[in-house]
Amino acid sequence: NFIQNKSENILTLTFEELKEHFFELKHIMLTIKNWSKTEYYIDEKEKPLFHVTPETGWMNDPNGFSVYQGKVHLFYQFYPYKTEWGPMHWGHQVTEDLLKWEAYPVAMAPDQDYDHIGCFSGSAVEADGKHVLLYTGVSQKDGKEIQNQCIAIGDGKTYEKWQDNPVIKGDIMPEKFDRKDFRDPKIWKKNGRYYCVVGNRYEENCGQIVLFSSADYKNWRYEKVLLRNDGKNGDMLECPDYLEVDGYPVIICSPQNMHAQKYEFHNGHNSIYIIGDAEKEISDFAWEKKRNLDYGLDFYAPQTTELPDGRRIMVAWMKSWDARVMTKGQKWQGMMTLPRELKIKDGKIWQSPVRELEKYKKNPTIYTEQKISGQMSLDGINGRVIDMTVEPTNVEGREFKVDVAHNEEYTTTFTYYPEKHQIEIDRTYSGVNADVVCVRKIEIAEKHHAPKLHFIMDRYSVELFINDGEQTASVVIPTPLEANEIIFTSDEAATVNIEKYEITFN
Ligand code: FRU
Repeated sequence: NFIQNKSENILTLTFEELKEHFFELKHIMLTIKNWSKTEYYIDEKEKPLFHVTPETGWMNDPNGFSVYQGKVHLFYQFYPYKTEWGPMHWGHQVTEDLLKWEAYPVAMAPDQDYDHIGCFSGSAVEADGKHVLLYTGVSQKDGKEIQNQCIAIGDGKTYEKWQDNPVIKGDIMPEKFDRKDFRDPKIWKKNGRYYCVVGNRYEENCGQIVLFSSADYKNWRYEKVLLRNDGKNGDMLECPDYLEVDGYPVIICSPQNMHAQKYEFHNGHNSIYIIGDAEKEISDFAWEKKRNLDYGLDFYAPQTTELPDGRRIMVAWMKSWDARVMTKGQKWQGMMTLPRELKIKDGKIWQSPVRELEKYKKNPTIYTEQKISGQMSLDGINGRVIDMTVEPTNVEGREFKVDVAHNEEYTTTFTYYPEKHQIEIDRTYSGVNADVVCVRKIEIAEKHHAPKLHFIMDRYSVELFINDGEQTASVVIPTPLEANEIIFTSDEAATVNIEKYEITFN
């Protein structure tokens, strides 16, 4: 609109206009031929097809995942100027079907005295017809970093920070609650009242989630602690989310610095959930009941929203703070998982790819009761943007392997060990050029039959849904796209059903 309202053939801009419309102009420049020769240009084919990635630069946590005026909005921790973390902005993308995303102008930059170090993670809600963002403003006071909660109010495209920020300061909490580690508010509305949960540190080593409430989302009062960890395994609890799934209250959060516990938790930063008490207006949660949300190598800081049709959808940052997994020369870093539908069954969260994916699944290749012995490839079973289900009906040997993104140089291996009821993920040969974790083992929850393995691949990632989403595993691979074979290996006879689709927008 801005360009159309300019009548000249030659576009002249004031510096103020350039500043205000920088990102719209960048979009236009993307369509200009010479742009593709500049160092800033990123060919869409160098990115995943349907997973959210930053337009350029760095992305971490999903923020403000919400429905506003009928469209799904996803904001994210964004540093546009490098493929590294830096002072946090809020990037913004919008979708109508959870798969095709449109980039909107950056919603917030760290430009105020209360957020000059960064606009950290937060959430969004539709309120009084406006789109309200609640986020953590990070600043410095007397040489010390402090974190407070702030709001910005917008129309779905442009957002203005509230004049009376911060709206929740740490000093309204009891004294031993940390003022520095106090971040990542998640807002929701229940029975006419706003609530938000915020991650916090208690004394030295404990992480906790604190609850606040408000009549108008601007004036908040401290309520109580909803969850505190045991101070032994993990400390700060980042990115809490309070949600309801199938009538059960659930808390999700990402504890930092955990120690591995069997195959449930890995060392470092994990993402967990706990199911609460459905009888309470706002439930509290028992740390001992925690479970892992994803058993892969790259999954952190998930956030959920409820769609108008009642589905609870979750998206997470498909990356680990400790791993740098990028293709050579890649000009962006970080991506989101596929949005997943959540449900509760047998006291656990089950996840499945959003059903909108169905309409982009084309060209099926199907094998029924296919015998696998030794190492085999199968006609039509290959690709890097695919949906593939492998369902073993009989595995006689000690291991059954599926190798994806494979050629003579690269491979990523998923091995099923029937005797141990385990799946091992191995990306050692996927082209990772840093010393990052490449192998993880999963204990399969369902032990009565061989696991149904549903793989979703989108160029540089593999998301595995085990047994219809009872467990999931997300993995990023930096493998060059020409490695697109899929190999099946069984040491003894095995029989499998395979169903593979290409995923395409054409
Ligand atoms: C989690 C996190 C959040 C914080 C943000 C900063 O990945 O550390 O706690 O708000 O990233 O970018």
